Amino acid sequence: MAVNIQSDGGSNSQVPEVSRRQLVNYLLGFSLVATAVGVLTPVIGYLWPPGRPSGGGGGRAQVGTTDDFPVGQGKVVPVNDKPVIVVNTPQGGLKAFSAICTHLGCITEWDQTRQFILCPCHDGRFNAITGAVVSGPPPAPLPQLALQVEGDAVYVSEG
Ligand code: FES
Repeated sequence: MAVNIQSDGGSNSQVPEVSRRQLVNYLLGFSLVATAVGVLTPVIGYLWPPGRPSGGGGGRAQVGTTDDFPVGQGKVVPVNDKPVIVVNTPQGGLKAFSAICTHLGCITEWDQTRQFILCPCHDGRFNAITGAVVSGPPPAPLPQLALQVEGDAVYVSEG
């Protein structure tokens, strides 16, 4: 059986007929595509995490005071719109690294319990003194940034 859609003017225009089978095939195709998009979107979001922050003109920025970075702690701070992790370890003192994971660009965080820099996306771990990869998939260390303490003010410079 065929579905015929007529134009309302009653003119001689030809309107193509769409059979019930074709209509069902179109609807089935649409639902398959919608399902595929719904399944693939989170998978792609996992494989390609949120983009890196852009912008920033480089240069030096004050990220806090020495009181903001007690020994044995670390935190992510913005430097010219880019995430930087500042850590203060008993062995290494104050250090600053890019907080952007060298694997797929997730933002790292400080693991207070185990005293290393952790990437939560794929469990990448970095040494808090050198930025070197300790374990996980990151292919390279976190780039170290210049850090200066003047009085009690802490500054970080982009490389
Ligand atoms: S993005 Fe994969 S370990 Fe960091």
